Amino acid sequence: MCIVCHNAKPTLDALGPPIAGAPRDLIEARVVYASYPPGYQPKRQSQAMPAMPSLAGTIDDLAAYLAECCPAN
Ligand code: HEC
Repeated sequence: MCIVCHNAKPTLDALGPPIAGAPRDLIEARVVYASYPPGYQPKRQSQAMPAMPSLAGTIDDLAAYLAECCPAN
């Protein structure tokens, strides 16, 4: 579902920014709470991505995928 807005190749841009290699704390903050970890400089200033709290149980899997799928750019 992330690829509705993020590129299916997570190193690339789309409506949402590239998220390959995104750290777990960033993924959790953004996906579950629509926020960012303290001090994190967001890649975009927009607020287009909704919180998806029902995905809280999948953060480990998302982080593992984004860490392994592709080198971060
Ligand atoms: C409705 C479109 C949409 C969906 C669906 C979506 N995103 Fe996003 N995402 C965005 C946009 C646009 C941004 C840039 C900030 C904003 O506008 O909210 C973003 C920002 C992010 C960021 C922060 C990037 C950074 O470094 O600043 C992460 C991480 C992220 N998304 C992960 C995900 C994951 C994982 C999913 C699937 C569970 C997902 N997104 C689903 C549109 C979306």
